[in-house]
Amino acid sequence: MDYRRTYVRDLFKLAPRTQTSAYGWVKTRRDSKGISFVQLSDGSCFKDLQVVVNEGVLSADVLRQITTGACVRFDGEIVESPAAGQAVELLATGAEIYGAADPEKYPLQKKGATMEFLREISHLRVRGNTFGAVFRVRAQAAFAIHKFFYDRGFHYIHTPIITASDCEGAGAMFAVSTALESAGHENPAYQLKTKDPAEDFFGKPAFLTVSGQLEGETMALGLTNIYTFGPTFRAENSSTSRHLAEFWMVEPEMAFCDLEGNMNCAEEFLKEVIGHILENSAADLEFFNQRIEPELLKTLNHVVESPFERLTYTEAIKMLEGSGETFEYPVFWGADLQSEHERWLTEVKVGRPVILTDYPKEIKAFYMRENEDGKTVRAMDVLAPRIGEIIGGSQREERLDVLERKIQEFGLPLEPYWWYLDLRRYGSAPHAGFGLGFERLLMYVTGMKNIRDVIPYHRTPGNAEF
Ligand code: 4AD
Ligand code: MG
Repeated sequence: MDYRRTYVRDLFKLAPRTQTSAYGWVKTRRDSKGISFVQLSDGSCFKDLQVVVNEGVLSADVLRQITTGACVRFDGEIVESPAAGQAVELLATGAEIYGAADPEKYPLQKKGATMEFLREISHLRVRGNTFGAVFRVRAQAAFAIHKFFYDRGFHYIHTPIITASDCEGAGAMFAVSTALESAGHENPAYQLKTKDPAEDFFGKPAFLTVSGQLEGETMALGLTNIYTFGPTFRAENSSTSRHLAEFWMVEPEMAFCDLEGNMNCAEEFLKEVIGHILENSAADLEFFNQRIEPELLKTLNHVVESPFERLTYTEAIKMLEGSGETFEYPVFWGADLQSEHERWLTEVKVGRPVILTDYPKEIKAFYMRENEDGKTVRAMDVLAPRIGEIIGGSQREERLDVLERKIQEFGLPLEPYWWYLDLRRYGSAPHAGFGLGFERLLMYVTGMKNIRDVIPYHRTPGNAEF
């Protein structure tokens, strides 16, 4: 058995009468007048292969084990299919059962299973139509992202997952420590070995990173254009359909770039990545359009073709105040925008993605470049219909004195940021960047309603199963 065998997706291209084998998992089996029709999938494409098994071809013992969930290799001949919707099928001449699946117990056969139920069997759901499509699109999107940056001379950088500095200054971080000692097998309680961070593994408090941005900036001020693409962690206790405790983020950072250039990059990036997926994952998107989100293809094509709206935060607040809507959270200059406000702006007011800029400095991170007005910063958020914030970014504060003041104004200690401040001491440059929440993008392109359903195994408050 070699890995370079034929995928199901390649079998559809074979000429009739070609002898071949098909490997996969049985989705369904239907018997009619002594013939069995088996739908076989190996996840290589949306379409299943139909395998026709005539009476007497397989032994009774093998035939008995061909049930939903079983893993089987069929040997046979490609034939033209009389059935609608497929050009060819496989006429079986033999089969080997690799792994049977007890039809009484196999958890994935329930018709019309809810997303919540499927989440409980996340290790098996990938074998079904919806999640096969989700994870093929996820892989395609990751490739499109790397391609976008590769084509523009950006260098792919790996920033640390364990860090001692809080990038967003929001304090929602997971501690990393070996100061915990298991009290033993019998008693699952854990005891603190030490309360002094100096005695802990890293000799100081350490955390899972919330963003690779700060280290990304150091690399950009040497390599000019870089990006990171990796897991990030937030210990916010929010169980919404758009938040994960572990999510993947794409963070480009560009030297000699201001907010304008940053917006241009973000817009071009989203359009090209979505365009690539439309082109290369057409069958999967067609499924999402039919079964998950009826307007999906229309909106995605619209996004690729039309320019994003660009507004300042102050303009957006005026629009929201004049909207005549009653929002749950009040709107006033200085307020952080809630999902309901973001959705009104993108869905009702504009009908396309919106880039909001120049937010009040108090509601954004310390590293954003302060405007001349002393009140706002060169921030930008890209808001998308259905999702709200999909990208957050800014031009960075490159002036040493202003940055030092800002860190202190945010109540953060200067010491852990000595190396970040060094960038402003030695050869500082105007620079900018942004972060795309990879799972938010996937929700947008698949139409899936819950962020837990676009990552193989979700990490959320109360859940670290699998
Ligand atoms: O806006 P955020 O917090 O920005 C940063 O972390 C910056 N350091 C990025 C940068 O400028 N390099 O997060 C960026 C994006 C958000 O727009 C959102 O799409 C996603 O990350 N995000 C989350 N996705 C899933 N679950 C969460 N808890 C998320 N928090 C943020
Ligand atoms: Mg943000």
